[in-house]
Amino acid sequence: MIELLNQPSGRHNRFLRALKRMPVDTTPIWIMRQAGRYLPEYRATREKAGSFMNLCRSPELACEVTMQPIDRFDLDAAILFSDILTIPDGMGLGLDFVEGEGPRFAHPVRSAHAIDALRVPDPQTTLRYVPDAVRTIRKALDGRVPLIGFAGSPWTLACYMVEGGPSERFAYIKRLMWDQPDALARLLRVLTDSVREYLLAQADAGAQALMIFDSWGGILAPEDYRRFSLPSLAELTASLRRDDLPVIVFSRGANTHLPELSHIGADALGIDWSIGLGEARRATQDRVALQGNLDPAALYASADALRCLAKRTLADYGDGPGHIFNLGHGITPDVNPEQVRVLVDAVHG
Ligand code: CP3
Repeated sequence: MIELLNQPSGRHNRFLRALKRMPVDTTPIWIMRQAGRYLPEYRATREKAGSFMNLCRSPELACEVTMQPIDRFDLDAAILFSDILTIPDGMGLGLDFVEGEGPRFAHPVRSAHAIDALRVPDPQTTLRYVPDAVRTIRKALDGRVPLIGFAGSPWTLACYMVEGGPSERFAYIKRLMWDQPDALARLLRVLTDSVREYLLAQADAGAQALMIFDSWGGILAPEDYRRFSLPSLAELTASLRRDDLPVIVFSRGANTHLPELSHIGADALGIDWSIGLGEARRATQDRVALQGNLDPAALYASADALRCLAKRTLADYGDGPGHIFNLGHGITPDVNPEQVRVLVDAVHG
């Protein structure tokens, strides 16, 4: 990996070089949820698999869909096809994806008793399909672009496990937070250990960068964020820290915490579109690379408007290394795939 970094910048390494804030030949770009329902070839493979979890559990099919956006567009990184909810599923919560509703757990965690029964799922047995997929994908990529491994943050996984699925009000997890903070601390403990083991298994299998999705960090008031989300993010980045394994932390909606986040030892921070990249850069003082942050809805605009918006994002970051272009959140299922080509060309051009 150090050798890869030191080669001249090209498609095979510009993403890794930008994460390390090294000069690049052109700004690298990849897109959150780049393997997904907006691609007809994804929908075909998903149909063949029968369900989303079957797709995740088959290393061959997970590899097939990971490669689809890489083959179609000039993207600069691949991301493992999987989901953040494999860990709670491996803990026995019974994950199901209900059509049109999103993820559902058959056994949400609603008591201190249920929390104390949770164990770290073994990434070499229960979750073996994930490192197996990483190995299969690395072989298929054959060095074309680097592969990103990922996991959810302990706080974000706790939200899904306690709520039982997507939530608007987060009533169960917030009640737990204020009424039984010690029980929540124990839940975050077992999740932090699980995420660390899971990410290390992905790195051992060949993942070349790691990303932690703290998708629900932004629902916390500042004091609660500093108590229940930030510490596990900091512990994870510290325990994963290796020169040859860059870590990206995406704490969505937590822009007020960018100065603190820039000190936890992450190589890069994911940025949503509610802050300008210039302002995010001033808040983090070039201590970290920044990944983002075009509004995903820009892909609904005309091709000309989309090109202008891409230029605006590049200009807002400004001069100097350390920018990885991405959307501020995942691509939506009804986007015209040709718009992704327009965006990638605009960023590289
Ligand atoms: O980015 C990629 O291409 C890699 C794959 C990936 C998926 N999920 C595939 C997926 C990644 C990195 C994730 C992360 C993930 N999963 C997050 C964090 C990022 C974020 O969005 O904030 C979260 C919160 C989840 C949980 C999850 N998975 C939800 C809420 C849903 C339903 C919402 C939806 O878009 O339908 C999923 C399902 C899911 N994960 C799909 C994909 C491609 C769609 C499922 C399908 O094919 O039917």
